[in-house]
Amino acid sequence: MYTLQGVTKQYTRGKSTVHALAGVDLTIEDGGRLVIQGPTGGGKSTLLQMLGGLDRPTAGSVELDGVDLAKLSEAKLTKVRAENIGFVFQSFNLIPTLTAQENVETALVPLGVKTSERRRRAAEALDSVGLGERLAHLPSEMSGGQQQRVAIARALVKQPKVLLADEPTGNLDESMRDEIMEVLETLWKEHGLTFIMVTHDSAIARRAPRLATIRKGKVTITENAAA
Ligand SMILES: Nc1ncnc2c1ncn2[C@@H]1O[C@H](COP(=O)(O)OP(=O)(O)OP(=O)(O)O)[C@@H](O)[C@H]1O
Ligand SMILES: [Mg+2]
Repeated sequence: MYTLQGVTKQYTRGKSTVHALAGVDLTIEDGGRLVIQGPTGGGKSTLLQMLGGLDRPTAGSVELDGVDLAKLSEAKLTKVRAENIGFVFQSFNLIPTLTAQENVETALVPLGVKTSERRRRAAEALDSVGLGERLAHLPSEMSGGQQQRVAIARALVKQPKVLLADEPTGNLDESMRDEIMEVLETLWKEHGLTFIMVTHDSAIARRAPRLATIRKGKVTITENAAA
């Protein structure tokens, strides 16, 4: 479970300071799903970076299961990320010279998983996103939707507690967008993940049971029991 208290993030460029997050209090239950929306520059990606331990707040605490990520040493934070948190971004961020299977395996290297088990688990993860027949393909030999599936398999192969997605369908056309959303929702249901997703897609936001809207670094939560 996430507990955020008084999270602020300021970026200082020369004499000007940007208040990307201006005092965020938020809890997210284990296995919960939170959709984040809001205008460009509102602080969505910044919040996701705090949740993922990719960056630290200027003030406040970001607790994951009672551990404040803001206070962890760099080494411990890297370990928390490698073990517990899967990331999916708008740009798929695959390594172009590696096959789908090898790209997925990279997530298991820091965990010290041995080669044969890495292969097996990567193949299994790719199978679960419907790419069991594409293990040996390079990113350049796959469609955008397929590349994003590889990125999702890479995020999930380590069986993280949390999946963070920053506009995962932002680079895809409409049909692929629906396809990827279906994959993500199925995985969320099957794996009992905590799933937090930033989106610009108002149709997705409308369907969300719990929606966080971020404007000028401030969060408003809307619960939608009917969704
Ligand atoms: N590394 C950085 N250095 C300086 N300013 C930054 C940095 N990262 C973000 N900002 C600023 O912080 C604010 C919030 O940015 P953020 O990327 O979180 O917005 P966003 O809601 O994700 O926007 P978008 O919808 O365009 O992705 C913006 O004003 C942005 O310019
Ligand atoms: Mg963003």
